[in-house]
Amino acid sequence: MLKDIPFNKPHLTGKEIDYVNDAFERGKFSGNGYYTKKCHEFFEKKYGFGKCFLTTSGTDALEMAAILLDIQAGDEVILPSFTFVSTANAFALRGAKLLFADSSIHNPNIDPEEIRKLITPNTKAIVVVHYAGIACDMEAIVDIVKDTNISLIEDAAHCIDAYFNEQPLGSIGDLAIFSFHETKAISSGEGGMLVVNQEHLEERAEIVWEKGTNRAAFFRGEVNKYQWLDLGSSFLPSEITAAFLFAQLKHLDDILDKRIRLWNEYFINFEALENSGNAQRPYLPSYATTNGFLFYLICSTTEERNHLIDYMKTKKIHAVFHYFALHISPYYKDKSVQKKLSNSENYSDKVIRLPLFYDLEDKDQRRIIDTVQNFYSK
Ligand SMILES: Cc1ncc(COP(=O)(O)O)c(C=O)c1O
Repeated sequence: MLKDIPFNKPHLTGKEIDYVNDAFERGKFSGNGYYTKKCHEFFEKKYGFGKCFLTTSGTDALEMAAILLDIQAGDEVILPSFTFVSTANAFALRGAKLLFADSSIHNPNIDPEEIRKLITPNTKAIVVVHYAGIACDMEAIVDIVKDTNISLIEDAAHCIDAYFNEQPLGSIGDLAIFSFHETKAISSGEGGMLVVNQEHLEERAEIVWEKGTNRAAFFRGEVNKYQWLDLGSSFLPSEITAAFLFAQLKHLDDILDKRIRLWNEYFINFEALENSGNAQRPYLPSYATTNGFLFYLICSTTEERNHLIDYMKTKKIHAVFHYFALHISPYYKDKSVQKKLSNSENYSDKVIRLPLFYDLEDKDQRRIIDTVQNFYSK
């Protein structure tokens, strides 16, 4: 009997319950307590991030970013089409006009030259997504926003401990967001974080985070009452979520070492497949690293990709496609100025993601590799 290999299996380090119990003993369950601060400190110290704010999801962190940047109706926001819907929704919710830039020909990341073409006097922000934890060309992108008032946001949902040259992803944009959803390398079930790398935005970020009030300042004893000062929402996760996340962060190196080893195993084993012109492996530019978050292949056609998914299913292996290009999505296709983005559509049509998770056993990975190779040898 063949064992089912899921696409993802959330990893538990075994320590989560201890940290959650400790949070119980500390007697504060709502947000912005001991473990929230521990998580913030972890990221600020390890990666030199600006001020960090844990959120209840990566989606929430994006929505917080859009409020913080004061995105108004009619403002233009440039973003990739090949991304998760939350990257777009956060800005659409504030009435922004979304301009979708095509992906690079080399990998699903946004093409800086395509961004350049979309800049107008109304451009308020550019959002880049480092797909699969592989850095976008940040030198070219930072060059585009230099000497302008355009804000740069890194959607670093996939990017814990990933780098552009020596710079940690999440430290380059004015703002950055991370996701700790259970599909991510480090998770708290649902969870996310906003990173504020611009000092002048920090104070307001805390207010937006705290439902538009200065409650955090009140609890620090800096003001004698707290009031409604701005737009905001309930973006804080509970201390229980933060404690769970902190337990995972304590095991970051071990978790990423294992994932990178699995990623490299796929990469090495599919070299011949790529050389034979059958399917492409992820392209890793010299300035980028892999954090082992996600391994994908690009098939030659959509039919081939779908057949491969079906074939793997018959072998009890769950492989999946990825994002549907947003410029042709049911919600935005009539609103989108961009009607055809060849590279983004190409990735939507041809990407297949293979199982990659901490508890994937070597023999199961071997079975996945053999199955893909058998498919192509037929
Ligand atoms: C690129 C990207 N941005 C944002 C998000 C949203 O993160 P969350 O699921 O934590 O809301 C995701 C989710 O997978 C994502 O892939």
